[in-house]
Amino acid sequence: MTAYYNGFPQSDRDEAISMINLDELEERAKSVMPEGAYYYIASGSENEWTWRNNTTAFNHFQIVPRALTNMTDPQTDTKFMGMDLKTPIMISPIACHGIAHKDAEVATQKGAAAAGALFSSSTYANKSVEDIAAAAPDAPRFFQLYLSKDWEFNKMVFDAVKKAGYKGIFLTVDALVSGYREANLRTKFAYPVPLDFFTRYQGGKGEGQTVAQMYASSAQKIGPDDVRRIKEMSGLPVIVKGVVCAEDAYLAMGAGADGIYVTNHGGREVDSGPATIDMLPEIAKAVNHRVPIIFDSGVRRGSHVFKALALGADIVGIGRPYLYALALGGAKGVESVIKQLNDELIIDMQLTGCKTIEDVKHARLTHFNYTADNLKSNTDPSRITPYPVTKENQMKDDGSDAVSGASQA
Ligand code: FNR
Ligand code: LAC
Repeated sequence: MTAYYNGFPQSDRDEAISMINLDELEERAKSVMPEGAYYYIASGSENEWTWRNNTTAFNHFQIVPRALTNMTDPQTDTKFMGMDLKTPIMISPIACHGIAHKDAEVATQKGAAAAGALFSSSTYANKSVEDIAAAAPDAPRFFQLYLSKDWEFNKMVFDAVKKAGYKGIFLTVDALVSGYREANLRTKFAYPVPLDFFTRYQGGKGEGQTVAQMYASSAQKIGPDDVRRIKEMSGLPVIVKGVVCAEDAYLAMGAGADGIYVTNHGGREVDSGPATIDMLPEIAKAVNHRVPIIFDSGVRRGSHVFKALALGADIVGIGRPYLYALALGGAKGVESVIKQLNDELIIDMQLTGCKTIEDVKHARLTHFNYTADNLKSNTDPSRITPYPVTKENQMKDDGSDAVSGASQA
């Protein structure tokens, strides 16, 4: 079935999805999403070299199998900033879940809660923080902040987030302007569904805005003093999201950050930057257990989660795969993708004698180098394949001037 918002098709599925691995979801999602919305997700900046290397770089580290460990029944539960979680896998903040499903972030939160995973919602969410919290009142969640130039707006956000019971703030500092994203230019993507905080405030809706326009409305100038000011104004812990070098980890901790979130925005910002897994060791050494570390970008396997934990992360986030799963199965789809990744992690824990997540954090990895690739971007004419036409991914021509993010094909 399909719902429509102003002619924009939104999945309304609510079913567990089976998969062999997370990678296959990327192709399957095309059947339930319009092209523009799909490539907004399935794209990075420039040649998407960093996006691709975020995943291939995990091959630089190898998990050393262990036998004769006399261990069985590994457990993936873990504690993070006082929260009890069933898994170290987290839902990374992504804008506008309404491009994947009619229930948007409410469905994603339900799926994350069912999997016992930490959830985080974006400033550019379609659903209100109140509705998201009501979807799973006892579930742990963080709020991802795009700091606005308008401190009245920021204050309104902090008050709503705190009142809704969010456990803390991810302050995103690596996306001050949009990376050069060819896919969005080719499909003329614009957010097709209103973004709650913009509807409530600034008289705008976010709907119809491009990513570049949304970024322009947020602050380009963010420094350590802003970390202090956000902590004071919100009264919440602040984790700095978008750190990919030791220098910024030191600056963030010096400003009182309660955690470091190592990510390069899934390769959507600086292209040709290093894969986040290659930078994690340097950052973990700088942090030296003073504050917790969250890691994401390119995680597609349980072995990736394992390696990130073994290299210093406490929590490992996924992005794109859960949005594909949301479109394919709603809340149950999100739960399925977290379960798939966690099941793969359990296998690696059994085969390395790691009974607990703490054991994984002390597991031994080896480190060898691999060659890079120079493939063109995902939407480059030399690589694109005909987009599938299905009943569920076609715009409904209802005569409205729907801004949909669909390609103008
Ligand atoms: C993102 N990401 C992101 N980050 C953030 O701080 N605020 C946001 O609103 C968004 N929005 C967003 C939209 C889409 C479509 C994607 C793919 C990503 C970045 C996200 O939090 C995370 O860092 C990456 O998605 C992780 O990489 P993978 O797992 O998608 O490869
Ligand atoms: C993106 C923004 C919203 O990556 O963070 O699309």
